[in-house]
Amino acid sequence: MTEQGRSPELEDQGLPQTALAVAAGRAVETSRADALVADPFASALVVAARSHLDLPTVWPAEPAEAPPLQQPLLLASIYIGMRTRFIDDFLQSGPPATQTVVLGAGLDTRAFRLPWPAGAKVFEIDSANVLEFKAHVLSRLSAEPRCELIPLPADLSLPWREGLLAAGFDPARPTTWVLEGLLPYLDAAAQGAVLEEVAALSAQGSRAVIERAVALPKTDDIEAKLREFSEQTGLPMSELLARADPPDPAELLDAAGWRCTGHTVEELCSMYGRVLSLAAPDAAGPGGPAPGGPALEQQPTPDQSRGGFVTALRP
Ligand SMILES: C[S@@+](CC[C@H](N)C(=O)[O-])C[C@H]1O[C@@H](n2cnc3c(N)ncnc32)[C@H](O)[C@@H]1O
Repeated sequence: MTEQGRSPELEDQGLPQTALAVAAGRAVETSRADALVADPFASALVVAARSHLDLPTVWPAEPAEAPPLQQPLLLASIYIGMRTRFIDDFLQSGPPATQTVVLGAGLDTRAFRLPWPAGAKVFEIDSANVLEFKAHVLSRLSAEPRCELIPLPADLSLPWREGLLAAGFDPARPTTWVLEGLLPYLDAAAQGAVLEEVAALSAQGSRAVIERAVALPKTDDIEAKLREFSEQTGLPMSELLARADPPDPAELLDAAGWRCTGHTVEELCSMYGRVLSLAAPDAAGPGGPAPGGPALEQQPTPDQSRGGFVTALRP
């Protein structure tokens, strides 16, 4: 079953709690003195959802003393901040992204906050209620997209190509694809199908940034860690994350002729000067705890080798 179909998601106005938690992470990041991203809409989106979860939207003065329920989400916000910035940087590097597709867009507000080239189209695919909620809140804030924004309600575990073409997507033009926080919620077959569709719809010069899903077998150790995270935060990650040994996006796109580069979470930590810890850097010891640790979708597993990100170009 997909994330959309799970009953715990049908709370908080039917919004996926994980999309709210990620928006909360961006709100927290935005509030930091050393913010890596400025998302002026994230906090308003979280507040408007009236979530039953105690989602933090501000980085506290003493994070290590924050309420225990908020600590895992504050920790996750460090990861979300780096991930958002990494993808922002990717989108703003290289040739101008005139046609972009954001798969599982959630409460991502890049269409409203990044500078897009003239004539740029941004297609956002997610469930109708997510896209409608976001449009409603942003219009109440009088926010205007800085591109032609085309919301496209679709279930990405079912065929979605026709809907995208009907919405005006042009497969003859280079496309920039964003897969952020999506794959971990799809089973292995659906992940493979989405990646194959990305490859099939990509003209020469297309690019992609993909957050990998780590393999998540049903072992006692992993179940215990997921249960602990769920108990701490109220986010039922153990029900939401697909228990899959997913395909490696880099292998799949390599085989389709793309040039792929892997980026570990460690690399992001050193690139952006962040440590995945709520303790002050010296208290966490040199380098702090192992990167790739507690993050929303990159839950600890014995094998982190498939975590992190892939950036790819179709030459
Ligand atoms: C963790 S959120 C991440 C959202 C966004 N990419 C971000 O980083 O803020 C995952 C999103 O994927 C969407 N999603 C999960 N499964 C999906 C599916 N089968 N079809 C369409 N969207 C899906 C959810 O609705 C949710 O908004």
